[in-house]
Amino acid sequence: MQYVFPKDFIWGAATAAYQIEGAYREDGKGENIWDRYSHIPGRTFEGHTGDVACDHYHRYEEDIRIMKEIGLKSYRFSISWARIFHDGKGTPNQKGLDFYRRLTEKLNESGIKPAATLYHWDLPQKLQDLGGWANRDTAGWFADYAAYMFEKLGDQVPIWITHNEPWVAAFVGHWIGRHAPGITDFRTALQAAHHLLLSHGQAVRAYRDMGCSGEIGITLNMNPVYPASEKEDDKAAAGMYDEYLNRWFADPVLKGSYPAGLMAYFQEMGLLPEMDDGDMELIHQPVDFLGVNNYYSSFIKYEGSLWPIPAAETMTGRDRTQMGWEIYPEGIHDLLMRLHRDYEGVKILITENGAAFNDIVNREGNVEDDNRLDYLYRYLGQVHRAISSGADVRGYYAWSLLDNFEWGHGYSKRFGLVYVDFRTQQRIMKKSAHWYRDVIRNNGF
Ligand code: FCB
Repeated sequence: MQYVFPKDFIWGAATAAYQIEGAYREDGKGENIWDRYSHIPGRTFEGHTGDVACDHYHRYEEDIRIMKEIGLKSYRFSISWARIFHDGKGTPNQKGLDFYRRLTEKLNESGIKPAATLYHWDLPQKLQDLGGWANRDTAGWFADYAAYMFEKLGDQVPIWITHNEPWVAAFVGHWIGRHAPGITDFRTALQAAHHLLLSHGQAVRAYRDMGCSGEIGITLNMNPVYPASEKEDDKAAAGMYDEYLNRWFADPVLKGSYPAGLMAYFQEMGLLPEMDDGDMELIHQPVDFLGVNNYYSSFIKYEGSLWPIPAAETMTGRDRTQMGWEIYPEGIHDLLMRLHRDYEGVKILITENGAAFNDIVNREGNVEDDNRLDYLYRYLGQVHRAISSGADVRGYYAWSLLDNFEWGHGYSKRFGLVYVDFRTQQRIMKKSAHWYRDVIRNNGF
């Protein structure tokens, strides 16, 4: 074997509630911003919604059997806040909680460690009506919901993730407007980003105060950022882009401050978010790990100004996945080494990595997704290289266990190790899932 991973390496796969559960108004679940947004005509590919998705809410037992067959050591899923609190706060909904108890108990019985994300973009609509993440109170309501989950599921869940990709929640949801709640205002986005970070800090503090025994961290979407050329302008633009995409979230959490370059820009333009004294200390709680989602790399070319559009991502001519994302496996190595260096040996869980391709079920009923297998092979090889060079990577979660609702792209982009026929809900393990099973068995490949 060429790549042997460290003993106890956590091999996993990931999903998110809105993308797989369906049952969108069952057992007392409240409406969330993705329910609302996906039902607005024109917002998603061919009007697709998560109403049914993979029907995982009813089929979780079958899905756990598949996880067992693949041999997953851990399963990362997210909790739908509006299932637990119909209106985001107030009286909890026992039936919603029961679902996650059944799920996590079954996972533990099956020898699969549950890793729960508290927020994967599905804010209860009632809280959006009160201003959503632009409203500072939402951070407190999130912390209350988090504490309730720690109390009710703490015995079943050893790994907690406060937020998934707050950069996307803030900027794609409130500036670019291509995710719920579909707002297009930069100031609102920046304020939302601050409150997302604040809510992370408050939840981690609650976890510590309650004396919980598991581990807690946050998941950020991170790309290595390279200047498109050696030109000074491109280098400056790349630095700015890095502050925007990576450091705007990683620095406050791990160092207790926003990056200085962008802070100065925002101040000059009167865009700085409102903050209270003590916010940065609260955001800067010790975390047990940093969750990293990485799919591609950013090559940045200066386009006449550093802001408002921080810089342009350019293509380098490499092969692309169905998302249009270029395949650059070395990027994940560079990213991991950079985090190891800049955040002093930080413990890392790769909480998402994977690829969308146009899969087909062949005449024998199989899905021969060699392109995905190849992607995973190459990226994992580079993860291994980073570990060999000292990066403290404890686990890897493939995105995704199942083909699912890929947000604005609806069901048109398949990321699963397992194929889902959305008409019949039949599941088929793809070739990549069989390969991944061998990787897990051998702890390498
Ligand atoms: C990430 C999201 C995840 C999925 C993948 C493809 O940004 O966290 O839900 O959409 O991208």
